[in-house]
Amino acid sequence: MCHNCVADPLQSGASRRSFARFLAAGAGLTVLAACTPPEPPVAAPSSSSLEAAPAVTSASASPVASATAESTTAAVEPPAPAPASPSAALPRQFSLTDPASPWLVVNKHRPLAPADYVPADLVQPNVQLAVSGEAALLNSTTAAAAEAMFTAAARDGVIMTLASGYRSYVTQVTTYNGYVAARGQADADTASARPGYSEHQTGWAFDIGDGGGACGFQPCFADQPAAIWAKANGHRFGFVVRYPWMFHPVTGYYYEPWHLRFIGVEAATDMANRGISTVEEYFGVEAAPGYP
Ligand code: DAL
Ligand code: ZN
Repeated sequence: MCHNCVADPLQSGASRRSFARFLAAGAGLTVLAACTPPEPPVAAPSSSSLEAAPAVTSASASPVASATAESTTAAVEPPAPAPASPSAALPRQFSLTDPASPWLVVNKHRPLAPADYVPADLVQPNVQLAVSGEAALLNSTTAAAAEAMFTAAARDGVIMTLASGYRSYVTQVTTYNGYVAARGQADADTASARPGYSEHQTGWAFDIGDGGGACGFQPCFADQPAAIWAKANGHRFGFVVRYPWMFHPVTGYYYEPWHLRFIGVEAATDMANRGISTVEEYFGVEAAPGYP
């Protein structure tokens, strides 16, 4: 939430409905920009051992340290270790760059490689569908987790639907171009990933709706039972709300309470317990507010 913000449109007198009207009127970006915290959350510098970080060797050590080592036999203080990303504490580690890894971080600085990646294990989960065809598919791990989560939500009386799952590179071309045609490229880039940059292409992410389609893909979806339940419980099934409110300086996208991303139960629960909002911060990669 926008803790430092003077005029948070979702927390102050303005309702989400009126906020949605601001967005529809094209004033939303002004509101959000005006509400950006003075010190936006910034992801920690990349320090994951899973990144291709160069090893520190005597040849690559600082000149000061080298000179000291050559001129004296006194013990040299080892350099302070780089702060570990929170995820480094987990017993199991996964790649941050392999599109088939649950810890893949794809954002405006981290395109998919290959750009036209297609998951090898796409399946249709046994959940309530609001779409058909390609968009009803997820990778097999995400599909199983989604089935468990939708079942648990239903047990709590919350209807959740799969509103948009897998999107191929070619589909993302059409989706992104549609946003650009409707809103212009700068605005499109706050809501839709460019082809080769979308989590939807990996099968690790999907959008949810509720049974009645209320507020589908609109800011007011945050107040629907499906979104409230998913935000509170998604981590128990391995999911995070990937683009949280007011973290666009880190994620590059405005709030999407409908977009869930599977990272595994251990990591999602750890993020929730530590109060870490973005995967950029959790996995220790740089913030990606815009394309380089
Ligand atoms: N809406 C998200 C950012 C996507 O297009 O992948
Ligand atoms: Zn999405």
